[in-house]
Amino acid sequence: MSDALVPLWSHEEQILGGTTARRGETVFVRGEGCWMVDSDGHRYLDLSSAQGVAMLGHCHPRVTAAIVHQAQTLALCPNYLYNDVRAQFAEALIGVLPPHLPHAFLCNSGAEAVDGALKFARLTTGRQRFVSTTKGFHGRTFGALSVTWEPKYRDGFGPLLDTTHVPFNDAAAIDVAVTDDTAAVIVEIVQGESGVNLSTAAFIETAARVCRERGALLIADEIQTGFGRTGRWFACEHVGVQPDLLCMAKGLGGGFPMGAVAYTAQVRAALSQGAHGSTFGGSPLACAAGLAAIGAYRDEHLIERSAHRGAEMLARLRERLAGVPAVRDIRGLGLMIAVELRTKVAPVLKRLMVDHRVIALPAGPTILRLLPPLILSEDEMTLGIDAIAASLDA
Ligand SMILES: Cc1ncc(COP(=O)(O)O)c(C=O)c1O
Repeated sequence: MSDALVPLWSHEEQILGGTTARRGETVFVRGEGCWMVDSDGHRYLDLSSAQGVAMLGHCHPRVTAAIVHQAQTLALCPNYLYNDVRAQFAEALIGVLPPHLPHAFLCNSGAEAVDGALKFARLTTGRQRFVSTTKGFHGRTFGALSVTWEPKYRDGFGPLLDTTHVPFNDAAAIDVAVTDDTAAVIVEIVQGESGVNLSTAAFIETAARVCRERGALLIADEIQTGFGRTGRWFACEHVGVQPDLLCMAKGLGGGFPMGAVAYTAQVRAALSQGAHGSTFGGSPLACAAGLAAIGAYRDEHLIERSAHRGAEMLARLRERLAGVPAVRDIRGLGLMIAVELRTKVAPVLKRLMVDHRVIALPAGPTILRLLPPLILSEDEMTLGIDAIAASLDA
């Protein structure tokens, strides 16, 4: 790192330290496609998409141009006034969602989308209680935190909303937990933060059935899985269930902070005008970014590419890491892949970063999580796999 940046870096740590993850000393200053560049000009292959957000790669030209153009045209337009770009974005968004979800609320982050969905479920059902899953992660605001499982995120922040956490993939447990005072069940169809755990058909179908039978709503948290991450626009398309509410963020704005909840006509009927809202949500700036992002996913065939590249990457990782003693399991769907280890993942992540200039993510203490941009080329994939193999042999 250049000397000039050291005071800046330590100031950032001093000011933001309580709400950031522990990190190394590299200072990133630029991004392009699957690469991030540090202050010394070194290039790092980003197999994390900046926490699953840069699904189009960093600084995608179409999204960047749309943001610049909109910033020079009309950045702000409150929700009580019509806006051309917001209208176009709303239509484009509904166009890629499952057809039974014709309405949406626009906000700014994943947790805000989850909070919105929980509020809508209460309003629609007149009930208060939620059912979630062990190892589920849904965000850090009070509502989202209530349905999040991991005690390290929850401890010290209670009391939270009344939530029952059933074991993930336990169909019998969800059958018992959902009663006629349940407002909603919230589920990640593929759990992200806890290590790319795929839900079984039996579990998700039971969740949908008991919700339907007992008047509760089903919320799909697609904040990490949405926009092609799993090889379909949305992970619920793999399992064939129809959630009543679907939460989005990460890939939605092509890197611009944006969240949304899509919902059914039944939920819409329960919402009076202005029942929920957001000052910044649906700004023309965000909508221009989102519109460009949806155009890029579609025109560059990135959803299909995620399915194809993801299957290839999973197969190549399995082949390359077969017999490596540290590896317990390799699993994934689309470009959402976990390499579960028998050992701690932190030293592997450090070797990847320091020795190979490859950025990956942990998921818990022993899982290496890969969420590469959907534009990942074959050469970039090979480079990443070689680096992971070398880091595991070390
Ligand atoms: C599945 C899921 N839900 C919710 C969230 C929270 O999103 P945000 O950090 O934008 O609030 C995340 C973030 O990682 C997530 O992966």
